[in-house]
Amino acid sequence: MSLSQLEIIEPVSGEHNLPNYPEVRRHFDWEDAKIGLSFNETGKLNIAYETIDRHVHDGHGDKTALHYVNGDERISYTFKEVKEKTDHYARVLKENGVVKGDRVFVFLPKTPECYIAILSVIKIGAIAGPLFEAFMEDAVRDRMNDCNASLLITDKDMVERVPKEDIPSLETILFAEDIEAETDGDTVEEYVEWMDPEDGMLIHYTSGSTGKPKGVLHAHRVVSHQYQSGKWVLDIKDDDVYWCTSHPGWVTGSVYGLFAPWLNRATIVIQGGRFKAEHWYKLIAELKVSIWYSAPTAFRMLLSQGDVLKDYDLSSLRHILSVGEPLNPEVIYWAWEELGVRIHDTWWMTETGAHLVVNLPGEKIKPGSMGRPFPGVEVGILDEAGEIVKRGTTGQLAVRTPWPGLMKEIWGNKDKFDSYFKYEGWYLSGDLAYQDEEDYVFFQSRDDDMINSSGERIGPFEVESKLIEHEAIQEAGVIGKPDKVRGEIVKAFIVLREGFEQSPELLQEIRVFVRNNLAAHVAPKEIEVMEELPKTTISGKILRRELKKWEIEKAG
Ligand code: PRX
Repeated sequence: MSLSQLEIIEPVSGEHNLPNYPEVRRHFDWEDAKIGLSFNETGKLNIAYETIDRHVHDGHGDKTALHYVNGDERISYTFKEVKEKTDHYARVLKENGVVKGDRVFVFLPKTPECYIAILSVIKIGAIAGPLFEAFMEDAVRDRMNDCNASLLITDKDMVERVPKEDIPSLETILFAEDIEAETDGDTVEEYVEWMDPEDGMLIHYTSGSTGKPKGVLHAHRVVSHQYQSGKWVLDIKDDDVYWCTSHPGWVTGSVYGLFAPWLNRATIVIQGGRFKAEHWYKLIAELKVSIWYSAPTAFRMLLSQGDVLKDYDLSSLRHILSVGEPLNPEVIYWAWEELGVRIHDTWWMTETGAHLVVNLPGEKIKPGSMGRPFPGVEVGILDEAGEIVKRGTTGQLAVRTPWPGLMKEIWGNKDKFDSYFKYEGWYLSGDLAYQDEEDYVFFQSRDDDMINSSGERIGPFEVESKLIEHEAIQEAGVIGKPDKVRGEIVKAFIVLREGFEQSPELLQEIRVFVRNNLAAHVAPKEIEVMEELPKTTISGKILRRELKKWEIEKAG
């Protein structure tokens, strides 16, 4: 079926927080997005204060802020309890010498403590660096060393994966269990440090096609963008139960798992444990989840489980959103038929701080499209000269600068930062897309070698560097191989050193080597041994594109 033959899905009737997109888009000013936030009245800004404390001060302290579910375990906290906990963590951090601007990392599973730790770091003016819970030693070390982190909040299991001696800047490790236990000396004092809008608050490491992961720094000014998109795109209302499945170590998990929903005073769900269709459906039914934000790979996995969903009452779901990788129309039709709810694709990046292209609940969906520009956002599809191309023509997906969510810097790497802005007045995403006459944007592919597996951004360079540390490997080229469920899987082409023979055991050992040092999701699912790798004649650089072309042709 070609995209033009696909059926448009009209909006479901109902009250939406953004009832008239075309009209609002014409008049919207980013200043409007500050209305409702306390700094707009007081002039004092801290995103952690806006996220939690504001609601307590406004008299909503007794509302449930979170439900935590892990197996049979259930914990719920009110906004007042979350505030008190962040104050408590803040006091402990201050007692341990943390000051404004310090980089404090958080390495915890998806638990309430992870969310509270992140907020408490930001509350006292430091910069939080949340790490994905499945990272192994090298991934932890590279990120903390890059920005000279001075303190880490982790737990007594995960600390096993922290190579302390290789992180010279790391002065203190605090265990969440100990912070929780040590409540003596708590006061009613508040620990908020008022910040400049340009001060840093969060650093997320993300991969590109070259070099090690880069630290994308968000500033406190991001707050209005996250607040407004939570209101309009997530469409949060007072009685909603909201569940984002991503871990706060990824930008979706921090921005739309923590900040945007809590800025809009939503009751959120935090789910520990691994993906299992039955558990997910059970959770939706039990907690009556009404808004659900996840990723295409998860939806495809659920779809492949067939009728399992018929055993659960999923009627509480009223709004579903997706992000991170192309959302195929089949998945949208599946949800529409089985759940009677549309899936709203959204597009943004770690660097952009919040949504840029969105499908809104009150607007029609064109399956295959990521939606239209968020009010206040101007999208441009550019050619190689930086000129806007004709509608319907594929080009580089760019966004007019600035907007409040836009990253402040790439930590310690001005050249990399500048590379996003090579065309005057535009932010260049690195994605290729086209836009139709009605402004809908259609993703085509990446413009570089970055891999997207299950919506997670994987840099081939990081995997290749690890592979060649293995004694059997002389050279390695890593690509994303198309995959029906995961979008892409990591595939490595390697040349063995003399004296090493290919065997299933050796390939398994190599896989485990990457998994144990970096993380399971970046370990090559497939490894192919080659006599040699294709290279450029002049610089001898490995041609990943040739490998990919070859792989795709082979698959027919
Ligand atoms: O290639 C695009 C893809 O994910 C990249 C951004 O990855 P990351 O910074 O990890 O952020 C992911 C979640 C915000 C983009 O450059 N991507 C993101 N959303 C979509 C997408 N690809 C297709 N459709 C989307 N909706």
